[in-house]
Amino acid sequence: MLKINYQGHSCFILDDGKNKIVIDPFFNGNPFATMKPEEVEVDAVLVTHCHYDHLGDAVQISQKNNAVIIGTFELTRYCESKGATNVHPMHIGGARRFDFGEVKLTPALHGSGSGEDGAVGVACGFLVKMGGKLIYHAGDTGLFGDMHLIGDLNEIDVAMVPIGDNFTMGIRDAVKAVQFLRPRIVIPMHYNTFDVIKADPQEFLRLVQSTKSQGVVLNYGEIYEVPVK
Ligand code: NI
Ligand code: MN
Repeated sequence: MLKINYQGHSCFILDDGKNKIVIDPFFNGNPFATMKPEEVEVDAVLVTHCHYDHLGDAVQISQKNNAVIIGTFELTRYCESKGATNVHPMHIGGARRFDFGEVKLTPALHGSGSGEDGAVGVACGFLVKMGGKLIYHAGDTGLFGDMHLIGDLNEIDVAMVPIGDNFTMGIRDAVKAVQFLRPRIVIPMHYNTFDVIKADPQEFLRLVQSTKSQGVVLNYGEIYEVPVK
């Protein structure tokens, strides 16, 4: 069993009934978040890159829950410099088992600077095995050909892909990504939060019908249980 709680933008809480993790914990400043960071109870915090709309409230949530922050070496070091005491550095291509499940870092074509402190390594995506399901969170990324390889090597149950354009893939490239990844279910993310990433998720759904994947648009705060195969 795996439940996915969508908090808008690229922020998802995964819950298998035993453990909970949050990916890209952008709550403060996220117009769509239905929870406050202090309400988030998780065992781990996964962060794709250091941009504020992804790093979000990672350090605060980690401190409050003693939850481990998982990300690239550079990002976890950055979090430590901001007061985090429980981090686990990884890097692209590497996988590791944790109590809640398995995490593998995938490439993402994107930056990871914090703004104030300059570059903080590179961006990544995550493959997460949890609750008997395989989740792929692409992070912020443009379309890249090795998504085909990620699709070949993994039977993805749910892929989360950005569709907002400007900073990441737009809808047409995201549909191409779905063709490469071949997930059972695809959830669009990273749209409509800011004026420059306005996109219509229904148009994405319509175009995804040309693939073998099922598109699912989640409402903000909706809890979606991944269906059994
Ligand atoms: Ni970004
Ligand atoms: Mn972003």
